[in-house]
Order: sequence, then C-alpha cells, then structure tokens
Amino acid sequence: MTMSAVPVAVDHAAGKSRIELKNVSRGFGEEWAREEVVQNLTFEIKPGDLTCIVGPSGCGKSTIVNLVAGYDAPESGEILLNGQRITGPGKDRMVVFQETALMPWQTTFDNVVFGPRLRGEGARADVDREAHRLLEKVGLGDFKKKFPSQLSGGMQRRAELARALINKPLLLIMDEPFRGLDAMSRPLMQEFFLRLFEENRRTNLFVTSEIEEAIFLADRLVILSNRPAQVRAIIEIPLPRPRQFHMMNSPEVFEIKRQALEILHDEAMKSFGGTINVGARHAGGAEARP
Ligand SMILES: Nc1ncnc2c1ncn2[C@@H]1O[C@H](COP(=O)(O)OP(=O)(O)OP(=O)(O)O)[C@@H](O)[C@H]1O
Ligand SMILES: [Mg+2]
Repeated sequence: MTMSAVPVAVDHAAGKSRIELKNVSRGFGEEWAREEVVQNLTFEIKPGDLTCIVGPSGCGKSTIVNLVAGYDAPESGEILLNGQRITGPGKDRMVVFQETALMPWQTTFDNVVFGPRLRGEGARADVDREAHRLLEKVGLGDFKKKFPSQLSGGMQRRAELARALINKPLLLIMDEPFRGLDAMSRPLMQEFFLRLFEENRRTNLFVTSEIEEAIFLADRLVILSNRPAQVRAIIEIPLPRPRQFHMMNSPEVFEIKRQALEILHDEAMKSFGGTINVGARHAGGAEARP
C-alpha cells in the first residue's frame, strides 16, 4: 500500500505530492503536567487532492499543520512527503495562516518575490514576471505597490496565496485562512480559491472548523476527535469539479453534513464536559452560547 519503498518522481511544477502521516503523536509539557495533543494520527493525502482537516476548536489542528510544515517534529511516528521523511521546514511546503504573515514594510509585490530573491533563485526578470502573473491571477494587479495595511483581509489572503505559490510548493498547507473574514468575503474567497486549486490541483491540506466550507472545497474530509486529536472519520466528497455553490443543496451533501456534524457535535460536547447544549453548525461549538 505504501509508496515509500518506490522512488517517486517529484514534479514541483505540478505539485502532485503524496503525504502520509503514520502513527504521529505529539504532546506538550513536563511529565507532571503533560498534555497529549496529537495521538496516533494516521492518514494520507493523495496526490492532487484537497484534504480538509475538520475538528473542534483546540483539538490540535495547528499542531498538525506545524508538524507537516516541519516547524515541529513528532515525538513518535513519522510524516512522509513522497516517501521521504519530513525532518524540518522546506519551501516544498508552504503555509498560509489565518493571521497575515505579510511583511508590513514591504509592498505586495516585494512580499511575493521575497522568498525566491532571498534564496537567489532564478533570474530576477523571471521571478518578477512570475510575481506579476500570480498577482494578476489572484486579482491584485492594481495593488502590487500597496502595502499590506492598505489591503482588505481577503486581499491579504490572496497576496499570501501568490507569495506561497511562487515557490511552486509540493504541498500547500492552509490553516483556517478564511476565518475572521466577513460573511460577504468568505464565500467569495472560497470560490476564488477553488478556481485556483482546480486549475492545476496542487496537493492541498486545508484546515477549517466550518463543515460547509470543508465539504465545498474538499475531496476528502479528515474529521478529528477532541484533544488529543485522532482520526474519527474519513469522508470522501463525491461532488464533481469545478465545484459550484448550488451543489451544496444536493441530498448527498446534506447526508455528508449530517454524518460529519453528528461526530463533531459528539466531540464538541466532550470538550465542554458534556454539560451544555452545543449548536450544530460550527465544529468548534461557536454557537454554544445560550
Ligand atoms: N508549543 C506548544 N506548547 C505547549 N502547548 C501547546 C503548544 N502548541 C499547542 N499546544 C497546545 O495544544 C493544544 C492544541 O492546540 P492547536 O493550536 O493545535 O489547536 P487547534 O485545533 O489549531 O485550535 P484552534 O481551533 O483554536 O485553531 C492546545 O491545548 C495548546 O495549548
Ligand atoms: Mg489552529
């Protein structure tokens, strides 16, 4: 089943990579105050797939992001990228976070070219051309000379997408990138991002606590338990691509949503000690207020 023994042709331009998490565990704190955050986590991200991790707030999603990005290392188990063990950060894995990571003193354009220029990759003219192309693509053609503070939240996310994509990562990792956007911008960003993804299907690990967002975007959902994060269910999303919002009204989507919410509700209840009635829409129990 595993491909680790077979040499894998790596195509950075296509970004079709396979990620395998095998019995990954990570905890924090001294022995007397130890907290297991991720426990025996095993799942796979197939080449060209968009896999959404969904789980209750605080269950360990960002911890998983840090492990896959290589900012942190598992205490046991391993994470493989195209059969090679991940041992640290690399430009083959780019992360887009919820909070902006754009450098405020640099223009949008300079933020995008920063990585390749720093590493002295490619001819300057080629890097610049690619940055212009990507910024046009993400709809920021007129905002190249603006600073991050002059961009809206949605524009900042798009600038970060351009900044990540210029590195042609084998895996794009997104940690709740649309959280905090207003109700108008969020669906627009989802659709916009889908078009970008569907163009070349660069392998994507997308973290969200919004079940509808997850179903709309993903090929597969990995539903996590409450902390310590373990896989509760893996659900395939059989919707065709390109995805359209109207597909969200189909009976199969309702059934997937029902299944996922049942699990998430169960897990969210545990995180509140099972004492209050948790609303069913958000995985994080954001509607748990009376
Ligand atoms: N470096 C660290 N040191 C100690 N504890 C940590 C560290 N990183 C994460 N944790 C703990 O791990 C748990 C999970 O945190 P994590 O940020 O991974 O959750 P999350 O699912 O991303 O939450 P959210 O939905 O709020 O984004 C928390 O209890 C947190 O306190
Ligand atoms: Mg998080």
